[in-house]
Amino acid sequence: MKINILTLFPNMFDGFLNESIIKRARDKKLVDINVHNIRDYTSDKHKHVDDTPYGGGAGMLLKCEPIFNAIESIKKENTKVIMLTPEGEKFNQKLAYSLSKEEDIILLCGHYEGFDERIKSIVDKEISIGDYILTGGELPAMVVTDSVTRLIKGVIEEESHLNDSFNNDLLDYPQYTKPQEFRGMKVPDILLSGDHKKIDEWRENESVKKTEEKRPDLIKSSKEHKRKKIGNYSLIDDNKKIRMFDLKINSSYNFIPKKIKKEEVAGISKVILVEPTFVEAIAKKNINKKMDILLKQIAIVLNDETDDEGAEYVLGEIDRLENIIISNYSNYLSDAYIGLIKNKLKMLKDEINLKMMMKARVVDYENERGRRL
Ligand SMILES: C[S@@+](CC[C@H](N)C(=O)[O-])C[C@H]1O[C@@H](n2cnc3c(N)ncnc32)[C@H](O)[C@@H]1O
Repeated sequence: MKINILTLFPNMFDGFLNESIIKRARDKKLVDINVHNIRDYTSDKHKHVDDTPYGGGAGMLLKCEPIFNAIESIKKENTKVIMLTPEGEKFNQKLAYSLSKEEDIILLCGHYEGFDERIKSIVDKEISIGDYILTGGELPAMVVTDSVTRLIKGVIEEESHLNDSFNNDLLDYPQYTKPQEFRGMKVPDILLSGDHKKIDEWRENESVKKTEEKRPDLIKSSKEHKRKKIGNYSLIDDNKKIRMFDLKINSSYNFIPKKIKKEEVAGISKVILVEPTFVEAIAKKNINKKMDILLKQIAIVLNDETDDEGAEYVLGEIDRLENIIISNYSNYLSDAYIGLIKNKLKMLKDEINLKMMMKARVVDYENERGRRL
């Protein structure tokens, strides 16, 4: 991906572009970030980029000419031109995701009192980073560049941003690192239990709880309300009233509801999910169930020194599950999620293969020793 930044103050980007994750992403050529000085695109002797507003008023405005010149010389067919302005669409994680899929973007930084209104005619999108006024668009351009870059494939581990706050309209779950106890504050026992199914459930619940406490607006504004509460799904009726139902799940995404109060929804015998986010939640739940069964089988095989047939069987089951996931679920889930599951399955296969290989070596060694004695 290419990010072009148009600014009057290119030096402000020096530190930002040359440290940490952004530097590494540039070094690895995962992102190409170019900073252009708008002043280089002026045509007058004094390199004027701003002038006083017609009708009077305080401050200076950025002129059309240098900005039109700059954009027209940098822009390619697929370039999206983005103006950073307090009037724009409020920037959020969803917007960051959608920008990270672009091939080429231009981020236009304003300064002084802002832009001549006619500049908006060559802009595809206006973005604000929040309801406050900064002196210039440089910090907003860094904010957008930073959050978009970390979503580009290969920049950070995909699992990290899948779990980030605002992904799925939920805040991140609480996290802890060493030591287990600090000044009397203990890490929750569940995180030390090693039971990954329980840990995932705990994290999902904490995520929902934290969002309800700190950012209920995220949940209210989201049609995906409560979708994280597995087993408890909401339906939104025409009056946008949210009702909670417990649903018995079958595999085809047609649901046979149970425990629906008759007076609420009379005569419903089946629910067919069309909302993609619900389907996604159910698809993930079904995959998790299958993974759980598989993990139990694998644990038996890994703990049993004698069972070669079991290992072969489980390797077959891993392939079978991968095929099922690809054919039944990949339409409903992101490539990133499917990629994660495939990686997990591959790691499990590697572990079983390694164990079989080690065991074969031990057998060879013992046979050899037996022959020598
Ligand atoms: C001082 S501001 C201009 C504010 C403008 N007079 C107004 O009231 O909307 C100068 C420049 O900083 C940038 N800027 C300031 N606050 C911003 C924000 N919250 N989001 C995005 N850009 C911002 C914009 O590029 C803007 O043109």
